[in-house]
Amino acid sequence: MGNHCPEQDAMRETAVEAALGKLDLTAKVALLAGADMWSLPANEEIGLGRLVMSDGPAGVRGERWTPDDPSVAIPSPTALAATWDPELVHRVGGLLAQEARRKGVHVVLAPTVNLHRSPRGGRHFEGYSEDPLLTGEIGAALVGGVQDGGVATTPKHWVANDSETERYSVDVRVDERTLRELYLAPFEAIVRKARPWGLMAAYNRVNGRSMSENGELNNGVLRAEWGFDGILVSDWTGARDTIRAALGGLDIAMPGPVTVYGEHLVAAVRDGRVPEESVDELARRVLRLAARVGLLADAPAVVAEPPAPIDGEALARELAARSFTLVGNDGILPLEPGLGSVALIGAAAAEARIGGGGSAQVFPTRVTSPLDGLRAALPAGTALGYALGADPRTHVAPLRAGVTAELLGAAGEVLTTAQLPDGSVRWIGELPDGVGFDALRAVRATATLVPQATGVHRLAIRGAGRFVLEAAGRVLFDGVVHLDGDDPAAAFLNPPEAVFELELPGGAPVAVTLTHTLPQASGFAGFGLVSFALGHSEPVATADELIDEAVALAAAADVAVVVVATTEEVESEGVDRTGLALPGRQDELVARVAAANPRTVVVVNAGAPVLMPWREDVAAVLLTWFPGQQAGAALADVLLGAVEPGGRLPTTWPAEEADCPVWEVVPTEGVLDYGEGLFIGYPAWQRRGTAQPAYWFGHGLGYTDWEYQGLEVRLGAGAGADAADGDGDPYAARAEAVVRVRNTGARAGRETVQVYLAPDGSDRTRPDRRLAGFAVVTAEPGETVEARIPLPLRSFQTWGDAGWSVRPGTYAVEAGRSVADRRLTVALDLPAAGGR
Ligand code: BGC
Repeated sequence: MGNHCPEQDAMRETAVEAALGKLDLTAKVALLAGADMWSLPANEEIGLGRLVMSDGPAGVRGERWTPDDPSVAIPSPTALAATWDPELVHRVGGLLAQEARRKGVHVVLAPTVNLHRSPRGGRHFEGYSEDPLLTGEIGAALVGGVQDGGVATTPKHWVANDSETERYSVDVRVDERTLRELYLAPFEAIVRKARPWGLMAAYNRVNGRSMSENGELNNGVLRAEWGFDGILVSDWTGARDTIRAALGGLDIAMPGPVTVYGEHLVAAVRDGRVPEESVDELARRVLRLAARVGLLADAPAVVAEPPAPIDGEALARELAARSFTLVGNDGILPLEPGLGSVALIGAAAAEARIGGGGSAQVFPTRVTSPLDGLRAALPAGTALGYALGADPRTHVAPLRAGVTAELLGAAGEVLTTAQLPDGSVRWIGELPDGVGFDALRAVRATATLVPQATGVHRLAIRGAGRFVLEAAGRVLFDGVVHLDGDDPAAAFLNPPEAVFELELPGGAPVAVTLTHTLPQASGFAGFGLVSFALGHSEPVATADELIDEAVALAAAADVAVVVVATTEEVESEGVDRTGLALPGRQDELVARVAAANPRTVVVVNAGAPVLMPWREDVAAVLLTWFPGQQAGAALADVLLGAVEPGGRLPTTWPAEEADCPVWEVVPTEGVLDYGEGLFIGYPAWQRRGTAQPAYWFGHGLGYTDWEYQGLEVRLGAGAGADAADGDGDPYAARAEAVVRVRNTGARAGRETVQVYLAPDGSDRTRPDRRLAGFAVVTAEPGETVEARIPLPLRSFQTWGDAGWSVRPGTYAVEAGRSVADRRLTVALDLPAAGGR
């Protein structure tokens, strides 16, 4: 994969060496740390341009964290993985590259390839799967797509950053075999197959060593063993120790300008604590990155001409529908044409949750909600009613109209003003109109609120620090809103809230002012951060009234569609989940609507597993993940049958919290022990065999039926095919499965054919089976098609004291529709080394 041309590599290496030779120590060291929040400095003398990095996995945000610089918001990474379609994901990578180029970004800080170890992981939505093979395939496809567009990636977070609690310091204890077979596996597949130009080191420690200093993994495994030649960048503020980071193989410390590198590294070299050759190594890799993305003079960019343009909105819509995972359907979907009426219910039906919280957040160019999407797609004769039903949000939404911020200096003078389209201030490392953080003392947000209804309105301060809130001529608050805990990022990612009630008459404009006085120093190591929001909510009906209204609407309609969702508090970077239940009274809402109308479809708008106690009592359950900005258009496509839902679960969904094989994400005295070893996800569910999950890994329904007609398995003869030990290409096909499937339904369809490999069971340390390959096929009604699925050598290997080795013996090769719905099995004898 990916534009690998030896002559051009050589030209770049020559240019890199020439540039390096011109730099003195200080200039070399300057390449190794951020000049600001998102970029590395230029150096005119060697023809080096400013190199810009940006998040991330669900769209390219660019250098600003504000809606005035919007991006195409694609579905959450869990949705990407649910497509099980590397070709589609490669195209998505192309879109990210296009967005990056549009925004002057050279490195996209993605994909997140940590595993779904526990459903409580706050960034579960941002990772791909509980399975390392699926994660590696999807990750490699994304990296390939972005890099084929000439833009670098940084698969992250290297490694074992699978939950958020104490994320800066947690020491993950994991044995070597588990590390190799599970957590390192997606990184290895991506590094070897897609050759990423970067990687991001995690905040956490692994077996006692911080990942930005973990020479054994960074220099040993990643570079020496796997041949990685890209840059290793710290997670933001994750570099802590000059010498250990430099010797541990960390090329770039982000962000800047305050850094553990810079003058500290120069001093360490001067007094002999870090050899200058080590600095040369780090600088060489940074220059190589610059050369690859076309920022170094005399070095050809890997991609000279950007590829053909991609229609971002169309691809976001296609991807969303292809990811939607239909887990239950009594035949109600697709909805029949000519319905008289549809009742659409739920807060997320009117305001889609398009993405999860934290650094994966992007500001969409526009959003189509389910309500917009259905309104546009339903025929004129179908009445569409809407009811809120239940509002799970625990925070007051920002005031979206007409909020202006004034940036105030030391004497209270206005330095500049900025509009706040989403009622929020979110300035990181940079202030509007180039105002300096040194000059800024306070920010005053003002708005004229026109209450729609008479009654008790709520105004809210969302943020930490000193605030004054005034409305209708009254001071509602003058004091400090305190931050819980000591995670500096929480001030930004999960800020506290103070809410004030105010009786207001409808229709009469009211002046509202929220003034935030800045602290003397930003709590966030060295770069400026101003983050707060002014919230407002109208008087609302009581929770009981809301449910009653929705039930009445549903009872009178031909079909009820209830959209349930998690909230930004539930699924976000920076915090783990405390439970999997849907927030608020949404379960009760679904149960009551379903009782009033048996033709109830539930749409689950969540990036990660939630409990669905009502799942057997409703006509259909459709998981839409965080569907990106085309949420509603894609939902209408699928509900009305224009497009078949294409998703298959990338992770097993539990029925009960207590059944989850791995639940704990809270470290004990700083240590999180991965004592379950290889048994996360479906291998753990299958080994225990007691409780059944709600839905198994791989499960998902389309709109047609499939018969699995035949399975043949051949031992491969290609490169490395008869290598029994670790020296062959571990991703070369050791065998090939040919699966024949027939579309027995009435419409054309797409099937995800999955192949599992089960050892004979004599070695109880091995999981009962693992995904070894998969392919997406399409067929017309009545048509039979063949899926040819390579089974890589690595799927037959285990890690032991002597490294990787194949266990000879008899394996069952199983083809099916999920890990629990295996339709065909063939025995495969794998001879010992050298045999056939
Ligand atoms: C996250 C990274 C992200 C970085 C920059 C960190 O807090 O862990 O995934 O790329 O911030 O936003």
